[in-house]
Amino acid sequence: MRSVIKGIGSYLPDRVMTNQEMSELVETSDSWIQERTGICERHIAAEGQYTSDLGYEAARVALEHAGLTSKDIDLIVVATSTPDLTFPATATIIQEKLGMHHGAAFDIQAVCSGFIYGMHVTNALIRAGGAKRAILIGAETFSRILDWTDRGTCVLFGDGAGAVVLEAVEGDEGGVLKTFVRSDGAHRDMLYVDGGPSRTQTVGHLRMLGNQVFKHAVTDIAQVIRDCAEQAEVEVSDIDWFVPHQANQRILNAVAKRLKLRPEQVISTVAHHANTSAASVPLAMDVAVKDGRIKKGDLVMLEAFGGGFTWGAALLRY
Ligand code: UT7
Repeated sequence: MRSVIKGIGSYLPDRVMTNQEMSELVETSDSWIQERTGICERHIAAEGQYTSDLGYEAARVALEHAGLTSKDIDLIVVATSTPDLTFPATATIIQEKLGMHHGAAFDIQAVCSGFIYGMHVTNALIRAGGAKRAILIGAETFSRILDWTDRGTCVLFGDGAGAVVLEAVEGDEGGVLKTFVRSDGAHRDMLYVDGGPSRTQTVGHLRMLGNQVFKHAVTDIAQVIRDCAEQAEVEVSDIDWFVPHQANQRILNAVAKRLKLRPEQVISTVAHHANTSAASVPLAMDVAVKDGRIKKGDLVMLEAFGGGFTWGAALLRY
């Protein structure tokens, strides 16, 4: 049994916030943000629009793309670090929005690596016969946990959601070939949120030692791609497309250089989406599928790196 991607979708809130607008809030400039990150703009959720709303829209588009309805789904997994509420899981809220009263729904929390962790878990469940058709969603409203006075972090993130429909298919051809996830809690103080229900009874704000995270990200991402390819018995040079977590264009470039990838193989949406955490990989992949770059049968490597630290990769034949 394998899990195969039957549909993909994404959603971005209407409101676009430019670097120019950022420079009216904190001491920064369009040129600094573009030079150091590649980011030009980001989308911001409207007041009263929650992570579940973004995730629901992405799931709806993915279901439509798959030619399926929520009746066909028996599992919803949502990767998010910005849930609507501490509980219940945002996945159950999306389940209700989709009109589903059957199956199961739960959240996964691995910050920016959440979608890769989600694929690791969902793929394993499908392979074990625990689900027939699942929607895996990455959805975030990071704008709600930013310190809008900290120029070192607030310029980097945006809101959005992406989703895939995974289906159990018999046989050994195509679909998700390998997933590989890692974490190391020794680095948790380099990227974290300074609040939470148990410790502070507040939501808190994102804190990051950006340049240290940068160095770990480049090294660990390059290594996890090599490890994932090796476990799948595939050469990195055989991979058609790389869909990285969209944190910083300089990270994408540095990883591509280490792995000798051609720049045109690397899907980049960071200029227009900024870092949407767990939503960034499915959002970028949706763009490349819908504009015709990623085609059926292509070998695609997804990767991400985030707080914890957590990191991972997933290799699939689309
Ligand atoms: O999604 C999880 C993974 N997250 C990441 O991978 C993020 C990784 N980190 C980064 O992307 C980069 O480290 C940043 C974009 C956050 C920062 O870029 P950097 O080249 O590492 O800059 P830096 O932190 O070393 O700061 C250089 C200077 C500092 O000023 P001084 O001390 O040299 O005077 C900062 O205060 O740039 C200053 N700075 C800014 N200046 C204008 C920091 N943020 C800004 C800003 N505008 N927004």
